[in-house]
Amino acid sequence: MRMIVAGNWKMHKDHTEAKALLGAMKEMSIPSQVDVMVAPPFPFLAIAVEELKGTSITVAAQNCHEKEHGAFTGEVSATMLRSLGVGACIIGHSERRQYFGESDAIVAEKIKTLLQHGLIPIYCCGERKEERIEDRQFEVVAKQIQVALGWADGQALRQVVIAYEPVWAIGTGLTATAQQAQDMHAHIRQLVRTQVGDAADAVRILYGGSCKPDNAEELFANADVDGGLIGGASLDAGQFAALVRSAGSA
Ligand code: PGA
Repeated sequence: MRMIVAGNWKMHKDHTEAKALLGAMKEMSIPSQVDVMVAPPFPFLAIAVEELKGTSITVAAQNCHEKEHGAFTGEVSATMLRSLGVGACIIGHSERRQYFGESDAIVAEKIKTLLQHGLIPIYCCGERKEERIEDRQFEVVAKQIQVALGWADGQALRQVVIAYEPVWAIGTGLTATAQQAQDMHAHIRQLVRTQVGDAADAVRILYGGSCKPDNAEELFANADVDGGLIGGASLDAGQFAALVRSAGSA
């Protein structure tokens, strides 16, 4: 399976810094079996599409609204993203859930809208720290996937990228061990298999949560880890390029 390395800049970088980072990414060498994506903040999406023209890098958004248009001040639609040349969109990130009250039911609607408009949803799931302590992580993630993706058939699910991001590992410097990641990724693939059979083998499942050049190799070597969703380390061109190289040798 082709690997994906996707950078999530979150709410970082100003215009000048964004252009500089995109310029550095343009020079990056990308192994043939790796798909690279980058998700800058909304104001820099058009610049990213322009700057990365002629490369294989897909520009992604960090969120979108579930409706196609309407009186939703401050929101951005999938049609707008598509019209810019954006190819993917992160959906259901734990920060959206925690700070903006996003539920899996809303996330399901967003995923449907993205697929209708030919954008790749990068669907994020993952347990919180207390749920891991209580050993409820498998049940929690199963529930998230059931609500967000339970409606989908094999054809739809093949277009979806799933990112397992244990909340306790995001931006904390704590990383899931390679074994913890593999166990959860295998669990997710099994859930998808139960739903859509062998189409599960085509669904790429990324790991996210303090994934850095020094731990990526071990994480990416797992059978069910098909790449990474990278926050902090995607803000540095050198670190991001190192992660892309690791995916290429996985
Ligand atoms: P991190 O963020 O790599 O900074 O932990 C990952 C994410 O939130 O996607």
